Amino acid sequence: MSNINQEYIENYIRSLLPKPSILIQEMECFARENHIPIVQPEVAQFIVLILQAQRCKKVLEIGTAIGYSSILWATAMGKGSKVVTIERESDMIFLAKQYVQRAQLQDNIKILQGQGEEVVPILKDHFDCIFLDAAKGHYMDFLPSCLSLLKTGGLLISDNVLFRGMVASDALVNRRKITIVKRMRKYLECISNHPQLITSVIPIGDGLAISLKKE
Ligand SMILES: C[S@@+](CC[C@H](N)C(=O)[O-])C[C@H]1O[C@@H](n2cnc3c(N)ncnc32)[C@H](O)[C@@H]1O
Repeated sequence: MSNINQEYIENYIRSLLPKPSILIQEMECFARENHIPIVQPEVAQFIVLILQAQRCKKVLEIGTAIGYSSILWATAMGKGSKVVTIERESDMIFLAKQYVQRAQLQDNIKILQGQGEEVVPILKDHFDCIFLDAAKGHYMDFLPSCLSLLKTGGLLISDNVLFRGMVASDALVNRRKITIVKRMRKYLECISNHPQLITSVIPIGDGLAISLKKE
């Protein structure tokens, strides 16, 4: 249970999702068996919808893991699209490269190795959408550089912002997670009141924040 939605609601929504490709099913299975966190399927479906509705062609992702979400975004955006994705762990990059190759998306997905905090500020491109899915306690560190890389009218999508419900209620906070929770609250307050952003926090998956860059 995520503490965000009732299990029966989550299961029902998941039962409505289109059946993923064999490769995506294999990746879901691998992630589950190896305890690798990947975007939840109903959240992925929502982001796919946004990418298509906004006609996005260029996404920056922070947190690649095995390349599951990168493959979903590149597939959703279609021909000529680009996903630039950053990952700090070399074992994850090794796996991600293999999956990207098997998906035949090596021309569309560029995997950069490094600490996101160091890589993002040196990027020169501009993006239609930025998907923030790295260490939960550090979202605030990414905000200034993400804002400068995001096009006007572009979307910043931040995952896991309700962090198993702990961000919304002290009663749920595990003491060992208190720093992450405090930092996430600060991040949500910042993006919710930021003069350049319009933000909506959505109780889906582990909590998703969508922010539109106004200017
Ligand atoms: C939740 S997983 C990403 C899942 C992936 N987006 C998906 O849905 O398929 C987070 C990943 O971010 C990586 N990570 C965490 N903090 C990072 C940082 N500061 N810079 C780069 N990678 C980071 C972790 O190693 C981990 O593989």
